[in-house]
Parts: sequence; structure tokens; C-alpha cells
Amino acid sequence: MQAIGAVSIVYVVAMALTLAGWFDPQAAARPAPSAPRVPEQAQGPLRGVMTGQEIFRFDTFGDEQLWTDVLQMHHVVQQLKPIDALGLGLKIDVEALPESIIAALRADDVNLEDPAVTVELIRLDAVIGVKGTVNAGQLTSLGITCALCHSSVDDSFAPSIGRRMDGWANVDLNVGAIVAASPVIGAELKTEFRQWGPGKYDPRHHAFDGKALRSLNSPSLPIVIPPVYGLRNVGFETFTGDGPISYWNAYVGIGQMGGKGNFRDDRIGLIIEQPQDLVTPKLPALLDYQLTLRSPVPARGSLDAAAAARGRRLFRTEARCATCHQGQTYTDVLTSPRSTQPFLHAPAETGMDPRYAQRTATRMYRTTPLRGLLQHPPYFHDGSARTLVDVVNHYDKVLGLGLSAGQKADLVEFLKSL
Ligand code: HEC
Ligand code: HEC
Repeated sequence: MQAIGAVSIVYVVAMALTLAGWFDPQAAARPAPSAPRVPEQAQGPLRGVMTGQEIFRFDTFGDEQLWTDVLQMHHVVQQLKPIDALGLGLKIDVEALPESIIAALRADDVNLEDPAVTVELIRLDAVIGVKGTVNAGQLTSLGITCALCHSSVDDSFAPSIGRRMDGWANVDLNVGAIVAASPVIGAELKTEFRQWGPGKYDPRHHAFDGKALRSLNSPSLPIVIPPVYGLRNVGFETFTGDGPISYWNAYVGIGQMGGKGNFRDDRIGLIIEQPQDLVTPKLPALLDYQLTLRSPVPARGSLDAAAAARGRRLFRTEARCATCHQGQTYTDVLTSPRSTQPFLHAPAETGMDPRYAQRTATRMYRTTPLRGLLQHPPYFHDGSARTLVDVVNHYDKVLGLGLSAGQKADLVEFLKSL
């Protein structure tokens, strides 16, 4: 354990308790007694599934200080046509729409070229992950929530318009293009952000400290936005196993979303201190909610069951996948002999590009818990495998498995079933 920050102390204590057998490792980053004092206004009903769900969907943690005050996104969105908003991967919650708008949409009577429609949708809380304040048709402030990247919709009304599906990765969301639209971002950075493409984000490129964006690493290495369902009993989160869910929620909520709060991790030399903390007190409820999010079950008829059964056997035998993808979560991250630490893999073990890991606290990759795979291509942290066939071919080569074409096809069917 190199780090001695508050977060790590919570860790050590929690892991010691895990050893004692009665403590859920998921809860490891619940605020320590030494956590920053919670300001009065941040208190309130903090636990319970509903509250956690509301935080996940609607809480900006005060990140308007980044999206409005610094990035000036309220001016950009004021001019944004709904058709372009959908093109950027934003999703519309059909259940937030009043009957009049639904009827108008059905009748093809909504002008998708009119930015005023975008503003109205935001006023109705219908644009998933976007919170705005609207006064007489003018957006006066704008912020984002967790749901922006980690929710999608079931397309039940139309493509990108449907019921919320929390925990699903928004594989269409083009965060780079959105941020690049800010008038305060310089030309060079705009070009860099625009290269990220849909479904990707780089949480190691910069951090917001409450006043300004600070550069962390350059050039950016965008990674895939993962789903956040199916994380119960996984224990250590992120592609590199940097910490439990709440550790990462704080990292993102404060440094990336730009929420008001305090974050410290000496392993990566990141210290953010702000006068108010609207994130830390909400982490337990947010954690509880994330743990309720189940992985989707593949649709009937989406795979060949007999082939998947053969693939399942291969996964555990000749293809050697289960040496790392173990147990019900399909990861070995909790098998470390020292249970205060995640069990991780050097990039070369699975033929991964080491550059992203080098920017993280652990410098290694966690065996990704396999879940809802059909929902969130591309695969691997950097999206280097476009399809599940690419995944299997990658391992066949790197591990020298010598699988036949039939065996590869069976393995793919099995992966589709997860
Ligand atoms: C701008 C997009 C974005 C937003 C907003 C965002 N995340 Fe994430 N999230 C990511 C990316 C990208 C990763 C992958 C990081 C990694 O694994 O290194 C990630 C990873 C995660 C993980 C780890 C998943 C795993 O498999 O280990 C969790 C849990 C998570 N986010 C929860 C949240 C919560 C809760 C919020 C709100 C506080 C949030 N995220 C806001 C993009 C986002
Ligand atoms: C040596 C350990 C190890 C073995 C063996 C292994 N994996 Fe993995 N697997 C990993 C690691 C580590 C990652 C994360 C790589 C990354 O994203 O950088 C991963 C990622 C994946 C992913 C991507 C998941 C996602 O959501 O992006 C899939 C799919 C996968 N493995 C399937 C397999 C299959 C199939 C096999 C057997 C042919 C296999 N793995 C063998 C360690 C292993």
C-alpha cells in the first residue's frame, strides 16, 4: 500500500473487516470518520434506493461551476438543435414528456431543427444526464449527472427516445464533441477531444479543481464508457482496479464532472479541495443504488444455446479464459493474497496497450467482470476489439491457443450469453 490518504485508510480498515468475513468490500469507500465535515446544506435524507437513484439521475453536485461558469455550455446548448443533440448521443426519457409533446412527436409535429425544443426538453428533465435551469426560454445554468454516461434508453418510442435504463453504458454519447463545442476550449484541444468519438471518454486527461481545468496527462487516451450494472461483489472498480465504487464515484463526481467536493489520492498526486462538499455525503446512497443495477439478460433468440454450452466448456478448459475470468462475477480481482489490494494483470499478460494503465494508480489491468457484453461493444479498455469475434481472435493470438474456427464461434456464443 503506497498511499496513505484518507481513502486508503478506509480501504485498509474495510479490507481488514472483509477478512473478518462480515464486511462487504463494496462498501469499502464509505466515508471514514476522518472524512471532511459535511456542510449543513449538503445534509438531508442520505440513504435508500430512491435517494441513490435520484442522485444518480439528477444530482449535478454543483458541477454547474464547470459546465456553466467555465465551459459556458448553457450558451452552446441554447443554440443546439434537437436533431444535433440526438446526433451527439444524448437520450430522451419518454416518461418525462407530457402527453402534448408525445402527441406532437407522434404526429411528426415537433421541429427537430428548433433549439427552443432542446431547451424545453431540458426544462422537463427529459434529456438524460443533463440538468438545466430555464427562465423564460433561456438556459441560465447547465450541469451533468452520472446518468449522462451510464444510462441509456430502450428506444421504445423511437431511436434514442424511450424509457431509462440506468447502468447501461451510453455507447453513442460523444463527450469529446460536446466538450469541444465549448467556446473556451482552444483549437488544439478541440481537435484532440473530437478524436475521442462516441462511447468514449478520457478520465485521466484533465481534472477540474473547482476553479479551472488542470492538465493531468497528454495526449489523451480515450477509453470506453463501461456499464455500471452487475458490479455487486466485484470489489475493485475501473479498468485498472484503482479502488472500490465510492472511490471512483468521488474521483469522477469531483474531478471529472466538476462537482463541489474534496478528493485526495496520493498515488496519482491528485488533491482537490473546495470550500463545500456536495459529493462525499452522497456516496453511500449512490453506492447502494449502483449495487441494485443488474446486468441485462440477452434477448431470447440472440444466441445459439447449444453452441454457447460448448463455448462455456471451452471457456473453462482449453481456452483458459476462466483462469482469470473466475466465479460469478467473471473476475479474479478479489483473489489477491493480500486482500487490501486488488489482484491485477500486467498489460503484457493479455496483450494490452500499457499506456493507459501507466496513468492510473495501479498501472495494471483488472480482469474485466464480464456482463451484458452484447450491449456495450467495443471491448477492452481502449475499445481495441470491435466485436466479440475480435476479442476471441485477440486471445487466440496472444495466448497462442490455436482454437479452430468452430471453437472460436462457440466461445463467441458463450460470451453473448453473459
Ligand atoms: C463523462 C462520462 C462519465 C460520467 C459523467 C461518469 N462516468 Fe463513470 N465512468 C466513465 C468512464 C470512461 C469509466 C471508465 C474508467 C476506468 O475504468 O478507468 C467509468 C467508470 C465507472 C465505474 C467503474 C465501472 C467498472 O466496471 O469498474 C463506475 C462504478 C462509475 N463509472 C460510476 C459513475 C458514477 C456513479 C458517476 C456519477 C458520480 C459517473 N460514473 C459519472 C465515464 C463517466
Ligand atoms: C491472464 C488473464 C486473462 C485471461 C487468460 C483472459 N482474460 Fe479476458 N480480460 C483480462 C483482462 C485483464 C481484461 C481487461 C483488458 C483491458 O480492457 O485492458 C480482460 C477483458 C476481457 C474482455 C472485455 C470485456 C469488456 O467489457 O471490455 C472480454 C470479452 C474477455 N476478456 C474475454 C476473455 C476470453 C473469452 C478469454 C479466453 C479466450 C479471456 N478473456 C482470457 C484478463 C484475462
